[in-house]
This record gives sequence, C-alpha cells and structure tokens, in this order.
Amino acid sequence: MANDPTVTIINNANGSRHEYPLKFGSLGPGAIDISSLYRESGVFTYDPGFMATASCHSAITFIDGDQGVLLYRGYPIEQLAARASFLEVAYLLYYGELPDEKQLGEFEQIIMRHTMINENLKDFLDGFHYDAHPMAILCGVVGSLSAFYHDSIDVNNPRYREVSAHRLIAKLPTIAAASYKHYIGEPFMYPRNDLRYCANFLYMMFATPCADYEPSLIAEKALNLLFILHADHEQNASTSTVRLAGSSGANPFACIAAGIASLWGPAHGGANEAVLDMLTEIGHVDNVPKFIARAKDKDDSFRLMGFGHRVYKNYDPRAKIIREVCHQVLAELADNKNPLFDLALELERIALEDEYFVERKLYPNVDFYSGIIYQALGIPRSMFTVMFALARTVGWVSHWTEMMSDSALRIGRPRQIYHGSPPRDYVPISKR
Ligand code: ACO
Repeated sequence: MANDPTVTIINNANGSRHEYPLKFGSLGPGAIDISSLYRESGVFTYDPGFMATASCHSAITFIDGDQGVLLYRGYPIEQLAARASFLEVAYLLYYGELPDEKQLGEFEQIIMRHTMINENLKDFLDGFHYDAHPMAILCGVVGSLSAFYHDSIDVNNPRYREVSAHRLIAKLPTIAAASYKHYIGEPFMYPRNDLRYCANFLYMMFATPCADYEPSLIAEKALNLLFILHADHEQNASTSTVRLAGSSGANPFACIAAGIASLWGPAHGGANEAVLDMLTEIGHVDNVPKFIARAKDKDDSFRLMGFGHRVYKNYDPRAKIIREVCHQVLAELADNKNPLFDLALELERIALEDEYFVERKLYPNVDFYSGIIYQALGIPRSMFTVMFALARTVGWVSHWTEMMSDSALRIGRPRQIYHGSPPRDYVPISKR
C-alpha cells in the first residue's frame, strides 16, 4: 500500500536501494519484511541467535521484555496465575479464548480420558537402563508415541491435529511420572481420572501399590501455579524447534520430542536443575562472593544459573510471582528453614546490587526459584526439567497447531555465511 511504512536498505557496496514493508502486529515493535531481500538484492541477513528476527506471526503469547509484561492470549500472567487452573490456561492457549464452565468441564473430561498410555509403551520404558535420566526417557518415549497413534497423524487434518494435541497434554504427566518410577525402581502407577490434572500427576509420582496416597492441596496448588507459569513463552528455543521440526510436515509427537530435546539444555529449561546444582556447590552464604566473582570472570565458563534472560531486561514477571509463592509454599510445608532458599536469597541480594549484573540487566528468571519449590514438594532434581516439559507441552502444541493451520506455511530453511574451502578437486588417497 502506498502509505504503509517502509524501510530502505542501501547496499553501499554497489549503491543499490531496496525498499521493504514494515509490518506491525497488534502489540510490540514492527518488523521489516525482508523475505524478498535475497531475490531482489542477492544478499542474506545475518542474525545468529535470532537477536532481532521475528520468525513467524503468532496470536498466542506476547512478551514486552523492557516492561516485564507477559500475556497469554491477551490475559496478564499475574491474573491467570492467581485465578485460573492449569487446564483452563491450556484451553485458553490452545483454543484462543477462556472456556465457559461447560467447555472447561468437557475439556477436562477429554484430557483425563486420554491419560493412559498403551501397555506396550511400558515395555519400551523397561528398555531404558535403570538410572537413565528422566529427560532422556521422556524424549524417547514421546517420540515413540507416533508409532502407537499412526491412525491420527495426518498433519493436514485439523481434527487429527486436535486429537494429537489432547493426547500429548494428557499423556505427558503419565509418561513423566513413569520415567521417574523407572528411575527409582518403583512400579508404574496408572492414572486416576477422578483426580484433577495436577493431583493425578502427584499421585502417579508418589503413590505405590502398597499404601494409600492422597495428594496434598498445597502441593497441587503449587504445581498448578508452576505449570501455568511455564505453559508458554512465545518463540523461545524449544518452541522454535517444535515449529522448525513441524514445518517439514513431521508428525506432532516427533516435533514435541524435538522440543523436549531443546528444552533440556542448561541455557533453557535445564536451568532449574542447574540452579539447585549451583546452590549445592556454593554450599554456604560465605561462599557467595567467590561465585559472584567467578560469574564475572570472562575466563571462567561459570555463569549464575537462573540469572539473565534473552528477552526480559527489566524483570521476569514469572520470577516475581514465583518468588512470593516460594515463601508461602516453604512456610506451609514447614520447610522454611531450607538452607538452599536462604542461600538463594543471599545470592539474589548480592547479584542485584553488583554493578556487573545491574549493568547487563541480569535479573533472576523463573527457574531461579522453581527448583526450590519442586524440591520442597519432594520432586527430585532430575525431574525439574521434565516438569517444565510437561507444562510447556501445552505451549508447544498450541504453536504447532497455529503454524500447521496457517495456509502460508513454508518449510523453515535458514541460510548461512560459508567459511569453508573454495571449490577444489578430489585427490586420490595414494596422493594425499
Ligand atoms: N551469569 C553471568 N553473566 C551472565 C549471565 C549469567 N547468568 N547471563 C548473561 N551474562 C553476561 C554475559 O557474559 C554477557 O556479558 P558481556 O556483555 O560482558 O559479554 C552479557 O551478560 C549478555 O549475555 P548473553 O549471553 O549475550 O545473553 P543471552 O541473551 O544470549 O543469554 C541466557 C540469555 C542464555 C538466559 C543467559 O543469561 C544465561 O546463560 N543464563 C543462565 C542460564 C539460565 O538461567 N537459563 C534460563 C533461561 S530462562 C528459561 O529458559 C526458562
């Protein structure tokens, strides 16, 4: 359109000028649409780590990193965290609107009806070594789901996409708990569909066939909150991985398994486990200054785990919510003498006053506190990232569905700046 804003890119090497449209969504900065840049000017753009690249249009989650704002479908995370249930948020993220009572009731029933896993999947689980990390099991078993549900993996069929999303949201807790049971050598517990989503997960984690177990309300409430906070976060590494995998038409189970693999890294979802490892390594508040100095030393690879975020440069709104809840949960569970929490608070206090962290806008992120709550709930460290994956599955399936429903979908295919050898001739092995 004649009056739409544009951006002109001038190639000083040859004087050519090219004009590109500036596109705006409903919130957030504009983006220069350079999709025709290479065709028109013969050059690529270079943006390692996607520091300034929007990879898609999306209507699911909005983040303003400077203001510390996080919205799911327009609703502030603070309101959802205080008032919604996790499955209500799942419905919102997936379908775009908050459900009414009837819709929520039906959705809960559908999800709970899909919680069982195929009996043969249990044999699959048994194939893992006894001390396999639960994330390794999760990654493998979720990927293998496509072998069990090949009746509904036509990704071009909207109803099949919905069924696959329901199955993934429903079965992730069952697989996650099963991976833990396998890890500790206890029998697998079948889901109980009379329980709510989070209570059922706690039951599958902590019940045994030889004793009654009733999930505590405090634990259920804490899980509900943590799952809501972790449910989605725009185009982060794992969500972008799911989108990239899905852009080739791969089945949803394989795409979510790819997301789980990406989430596992300590710079992403693996940070919650790494925070607790770090706090244990620090050991005592007296050692905090030594570790702060190490985090600032460019020759030392040590980083303060749970600090910093690619997008939030003011504060992480999820961390603010979780920090308060952390106090409450520890007090209610009579675990308020948890030395790791004191250590975390001291680390946070010193880091927030330190010029290095202030200058770089490095604030505690959501994972700085989540591990402490999980630990207080009796959830072991090796399960922290699994918990994250369980909650984020809702975001992943929402993004995958949004992408697959878009008629403009194209395979994701970045380019590169090549630094290898120029063309050269093959040399027979006897002459090398
Ligand atoms: N400790 C010490 N220094 C840090 C930290 C940290 N945790 N995070 C960033 N920095 C420094 C960097 O060394 C760099 O310093 P420089 O400008 O002097 O070179 C500067 O801050 C900018 O850091 P980048 O690595 O460029 O920031 P980026 O946006 O690429 O990375 C990330 C963000 C990966 C989250 C990073 O802050 C980090 O590694 N944090 C620790 C791991 C973590 O907590 N991850 C969880 C993220 S949240 C989530 O996934 C749910």
